[in-house]
Amino acid sequence: MIIVLFGKPGAGKGTQAPLLAEALGVKTLATGDVLRAAVREGTARGREAKGYMERGDLVPDEVILAIVKEALEGPDYREGAILDGVVRTVPQAEGLSAALQELSRGVDAVLCFDIDNEEIIRRLAGRTVCEKCQTPYSDAEPGSTCRRPECGGKLARRKDDEPEAIRRRLEVYEAQTAPVFDWYQQHGTRVLRIDAVGGVDEVTRRAREALGR
Ligand code: AP5
Repeated sequence: MIIVLFGKPGAGKGTQAPLLAEALGVKTLATGDVLRAAVREGTARGREAKGYMERGDLVPDEVILAIVKEALEGPDYREGAILDGVVRTVPQAEGLSAALQELSRGVDAVLCFDIDNEEIIRRLAGRTVCEKCQTPYSDAEPGSTCRRPECGGKLARRKDDEPEAIRRRLEVYEAQTAPVFDWYQQHGTRVLRIDAVGGVDEVTRRAREALGR
C-alpha cells in the first residue's frame, strides 16, 4: 500500500506519518528527513539541497525522484510506504507514477491534510525537532532531550521555521504543490481530504477512517 501524505508545511504530515505507518504495518519515507540528514552529513546531495531548504524553496525534482526511486526499489518498502513530503510538484507526481509503474505498483491514496495558514504559523513558531530522529514537538524547548526513550537526541528549531522561510514555503506550496491535488484527481487516484485541526489522535482517527483501515 502506497499512501501519499499531502498538505501545507506544518499541516502535521511528519506527526501523522509514523502513526499511520505503524497502523498499516509499513515504513515512512520522509524526503525532508532524508535531505536534512544529508545536510548534516555534508554529502554532495546535502550540499546541493542546503540553500534551497534554508530559503524555503523546493529542492530540484531530479534530486527528489532519485531519493524516492532508490528507496522504493530497496527492501524496506516492499510492503508499502507512507510518503511524507513527496509529492510536491506535478513533475514529481509524473516521475513517481512512472517509477511505480516499472515496479508494477501505484499510489493507493492521497491523504490531503486541510489546515489554514494562521494555524500553520502558530504551529511552526512553536515547533522543535529532534536533530537525531526528526520527531517534531509542539511543547518542548530547544536544547531539551528527545522524549523517545531509545533516542536521546537534542531538540532544535528548524532554520526554515523562521518567519521569512515560512512565508516562502507557503508561497511555494500555492504555486507548485497545490496543483498536484488536481493532478491526482484527474488521474483517477483516490484523494481523501482530512481536517487536520484537532488533537493528534483525533486526526489519526480521521485518516484511518477515511482509508478504511
Ligand atoms: P519537509 O520536512 O517535508 O517540510 P514541510 O512539508 O514543509 O513540512 P513540515 O515538516 O514543516 O510540516 P509537517 O506537515 O510535517 O508538520 P509537523 O508534523 O512537523 O521539507 C522541508 C524542506 O525540504 C522543503 O521546504 C524543501 O526544501 C525540501 N523538500 C522536502 N521534500 C521535498 C520534495 N518532495 N520536493 C522538493 N523539495 C523537498 O507538525 C508541525 C507542528 O505542529 C509540530 O510542532 C507538531 O508537533 C505540531 N502538530 C502536529 N499535529 C498537530 C495537531 N493535530 N494539533 C496541534 N499541533 C500539531
